[in-house]
Amino acid sequence: MLKRIFILLLPLFFFDAQAQQRTIRPGELWPDNHGVHINAHGGGILYHKGTYYWYGEHKAEHTSAALVGITCYSSKDLVNWTYRGVALPVDSQRGSDIERGCTIERPKVVYCPATKKFVLWFHLELKGRGYAAARAAVAIADKPTGPFTYLRSGRVNPYCYPANWTDTDRQRCDTLNAAHYSQWWTAPWRDAIRQGLFLKREKDGGQMARDMTLFVDDDGRAYHLFSSEDNLTLHLAELSTDFTYHTGRYWRIAPGGQNEAPTLFKYHGRYWLITSGCTGWAPNEARMFSADSLTGEWTQWPSPCRGPQAKQTFGGQGTFVLPVAGRPEAFIFMADVWRPKHPIDARYVWLPITFRDGRPVVEWRDEWSPSTFWSH
Ligand code: DGJ
Repeated sequence: MLKRIFILLLPLFFFDAQAQQRTIRPGELWPDNHGVHINAHGGGILYHKGTYYWYGEHKAEHTSAALVGITCYSSKDLVNWTYRGVALPVDSQRGSDIERGCTIERPKVVYCPATKKFVLWFHLELKGRGYAAARAAVAIADKPTGPFTYLRSGRVNPYCYPANWTDTDRQRCDTLNAAHYSQWWTAPWRDAIRQGLFLKREKDGGQMARDMTLFVDDDGRAYHLFSSEDNLTLHLAELSTDFTYHTGRYWRIAPGGQNEAPTLFKYHGRYWLITSGCTGWAPNEARMFSADSLTGEWTQWPSPCRGPQAKQTFGGQGTFVLPVAGRPEAFIFMADVWRPKHPIDARYVWLPITFRDGRPVVEWRDEWSPSTFWSH
């Protein structure tokens, strides 16, 4: 009898054979409960009822195109992660928005208390069209692990001007003539971009939406923050009460500043934004901004990164800032070290954020543990 029980339980030992890890080692392979390097790139984390859920892009050996979908892992301690499967699979149907081979990037999930749904947003590029579609896509689920039901994708906030624009701002934008600015990167072109040249261009079809994150404020309002206007300007867009639509209210951040990889968090009543520049898969220096209100004004600060390769964000590009549950002072900066020639081998740089003179600092550590870092 005992022998039988042992044989029955054997698969459990086998599949959970991975020894418990104690530390996060930024940039190293990060095995899940099966001993397989975690495959959840450009990801974000949801904390729900005592468990963290990590959603990310599944990457293949030789392509960054989506062949599988959005994966989900769960953890109680932020170090040991259990693979929970594909939360949103790609579609085998030809012509589907999320057809296998499309591009799915930077998925983020939030919980909507009003509908009791888990809401997933991601950046979607249609199969075979490079980065031209620049769409935001949304899906919902009843459970954090999914399965998520795909709802729709599209450009964002058509026919809308930024919520804080004055009549003068609108008129100035309306009178911009694209024919005068055919040459990019000139001083007049930069001025026109700041005044909304590309915003005007996309106004009827909806604004472009690429690199993105989600943020739920203390008052329960949810926001979608994304690189828009050909990656030249960030848009912070308010979401509807069910979190699945844009309300039409949005604010531009750092017009013409070329920010990608936005991450947003709130510390002591102040909003902090850590972004990257635009250099494809190659790392660049992180940027940081703060504001006392989500609607701005935003002030730019030097990069928060310190230590070896700090000027290159430690070889990575930010994807999310995770507020550690139950510790109002504790945040983790999450970044991806991309490997475009071998995408599945991209690495994760997770580092604790400390605060100096009230400002975030992200200092390199070879290894560290969330359970001891903030325990003093
Ligand atoms: C940088 C972005 O941050 C990534 O999400 C991805 O879109 C790459 N560019 C593609 O080059």
